[in-house]
Amino acid sequence: MINLFEMETQAAGRMDPAAWGYFAGGANDEITLRGNRDAWDRLAIRYRTMVDVTTRSLGTTVLGQPIDFPVLVAPTAMQKLAHPDGESAMARAAGACGTLMVVSTTATTSLEEVRKAATGPTWFQLYIYQDRGATRALLERARDAGYSAIVITVDTPLLGWRERDIRNGFTLPPHLTIANAIAAGAGHDRLPTADGEGSGLAKHLHALHDAALSPRDIEWAHEVSGLPIVLKGIVRGDDAVRALDHGAAGVIVSNHGGRQLDTSIATARALPEVVDAVGDRGEVYVDGGIRRGTDVLKALALGARAVLVGRPPLWGLAVGGEKGATEVLQHLRMEFDLAMALAGCTSVAELTRDLVVDA
Ligand code: FNR
Ligand code: LAC
Repeated sequence: MINLFEMETQAAGRMDPAAWGYFAGGANDEITLRGNRDAWDRLAIRYRTMVDVTTRSLGTTVLGQPIDFPVLVAPTAMQKLAHPDGESAMARAAGACGTLMVVSTTATTSLEEVRKAATGPTWFQLYIYQDRGATRALLERARDAGYSAIVITVDTPLLGWRERDIRNGFTLPPHLTIANAIAAGAGHDRLPTADGEGSGLAKHLHALHDAALSPRDIEWAHEVSGLPIVLKGIVRGDDAVRALDHGAAGVIVSNHGGRQLDTSIATARALPEVVDAVGDRGEVYVDGGIRRGTDVLKALALGARAVLVGRPPLWGLAVGGEKGATEVLQHLRMEFDLAMALAGCTSVAELTRDLVVDA
């Protein structure tokens, strides 16, 4: 593999077209999907020279947990669509690379099974159901299974208008289940079928998920789980401050990979405002369109503690299971290491805002 886009092409060729549409697609005209990428490209690096970069260290910590390089696996639903080993293979890949996986509520493997397979730390991504008893059960199970943080996704009160999925009548094939939903008592572990037109995922989400989240839910989730809470899907400084005021330990600057509100702001553009608003009160992470080591460098220069990647590890998983996902993460690590050296940086602490300027 010379770059991640090659893995994307291979994955596209192997997957069932409707499942591929679900992975690849965004909302509406997919302007934000493309905008996330473009925004990283539109930043230029003011690299440093005359620095001894013979040895470099890429490690950092996230919520106190050491990781070998600042790239986490973002929560992505239904990974068995990519490979029969699904989430378990992804967790092993993250562990093999010395990093951390965020496991989705809408996984095709139970959260306990993923935790058992995992060889590194895991955070649990929570979708809050209208049924708060079921949601509480998920939080308690995540705590008991050994997850070390809860990531509450706040950009999905309803599912975005995903035209590929609507056209394809996207749903899970009959042999796959959304294992956490049934165990949480949410009523069923199958995605509804699409009945001709429409997305089965949209039907599921609109029937069960709560569109009435408030900052009080952060306090509640923290009380129930005893775990640090990270909010995912923030693009504004004032929202980040509200999250911190209600006890969040950090925020992920994210627009859900362009899958929710189309034409929403690119994450590279939203990041500095959020970093400034948060200051040293919490950690800030970012995702969306990160495909190059130079993107990771730019994100950290703008103040992110770490980045998350959503689609790229799915491509790896589709092509080669655990090995493929490992290759993707290792490749990104190699590119980031090279970018550090060429930018005159030997540790992530040296990645400061002066390194980046609008191109
Ligand atoms: C996602 N994302 C997501 N986010 C979340 O909080 N819970 C979830 O279950 C999912 N599911 C999901 C499925 C698929 C197929 C994709 C592509 C994405 C969003 C994800 O965590 C992340 O924000 C984006 O994927 C980041 O953008 P890139 O790296 O894919 O460009
Ligand atoms: C998605 C949801 C499940 O983006 O988060 O498909």
